[in-house]
Amino acid sequence: MNAILSKTPPRPAVRPLHQAAAPFPMNDRDFDALRQLVYEQCAIDIRPHKKQLMINRLTKRLRLLGLPSFTQYVDYLCNDRHREQELVHLIDAITTNKTDFFRESKHFSFLEEVAAPEIIRRAGRSERRLRIWSAACSSGEEPYSITICLNEMLQRHPGWSFEILASDISEAILQQAAGGIYDASKVAPIPMNLLRKYFLRGHNRFKIKPQAARSVNFQKINLKSDFHRSLSNMDAIFCRNVLIYFDRTTQADIIQKCWHVLRPGGYLFLGHSETLQGMKTDFHYRLPAVYQKGIHESNRR
Ligand SMILES: C[S@@+](CC[C@H](N)C(=O)[O-])C[C@H]1O[C@@H](n2cnc3c(N)ncnc32)[C@H](O)[C@@H]1O
Repeated sequence: MNAILSKTPPRPAVRPLHQAAAPFPMNDRDFDALRQLVYEQCAIDIRPHKKQLMINRLTKRLRLLGLPSFTQYVDYLCNDRHREQELVHLIDAITTNKTDFFRESKHFSFLEEVAAPEIIRRAGRSERRLRIWSAACSSGEEPYSITICLNEMLQRHPGWSFEILASDISEAILQQAAGGIYDASKVAPIPMNLLRKYFLRGHNRFKIKPQAARSVNFQKINLKSDFHRSLSNMDAIFCRNVLIYFDRTTQADIIQKCWHVLRPGGYLFLGHSETLQGMKTDFHYRLPAVYQKGIHESNRR
């Protein structure tokens, strides 16, 4: 037998598992500095009990950059040359992207059966197009659920169309969303007839069909920043399961900005653990976590 082939191949140098996975330690000063940066950039308030989660998520990033400690990572972020680019990674590492198709399904039936038909009935406008904003769209399940709903509903309203703006602060998650590819387990909440109609099937994976994806435009928008003037005349805003990350002042500021972005009579959908109760706003309560801007409200305030 060939001597070389018969030799037992040398074992690769494998570090013990606990060593490979060991997160870097983070002192309180570094934690506070990172919290402060995250708060300034995206208004996400990282509570002290989230420190370990932050360490776990960022350790991978430090290894990738070849930085030996969080103190050096903070220095790296404070350097003007890296800050802008690195903040994207920092935010990607600390945001939670959990979402589902037709999450809080009552919102989608309300949109399809009440809100959208009402907007169409009332519309005295020449533009026969609904405009919806999914303001923290994560991996795309929310805007694609809206697409499916409105496609179905507008079959009963010929001449009408719709467009969806889907935004998030995380570039990585927006890229994933735009790809529109989901594991079989993720599409489980979609009824079979709609799955067949709106998705292409691959091996254990599903891709949103181009005709359905066409009405969704993805854009990076930080809800903490001032909203661009082009963000206007929306018929509905889905701003769900994102306000929970912000303190009350930032929440109130975002709600106020949403009010201005909506058309009179437009709807605001929040997550089920999010509420406007105790907040000074002009929205009218319609359903748990669903609010409406008055039909006769003017934007001049
Ligand atoms: C839990 S997901 C919610 C997804 C979806 N709206 C839902 O309810 O299923 C929260 C999303 O908010 C995004 N996010 C966090 N801070 C943000 C900010 N300042 N501006 C815009 N999006 C933000 C995160 O990147 C994440 O994708």
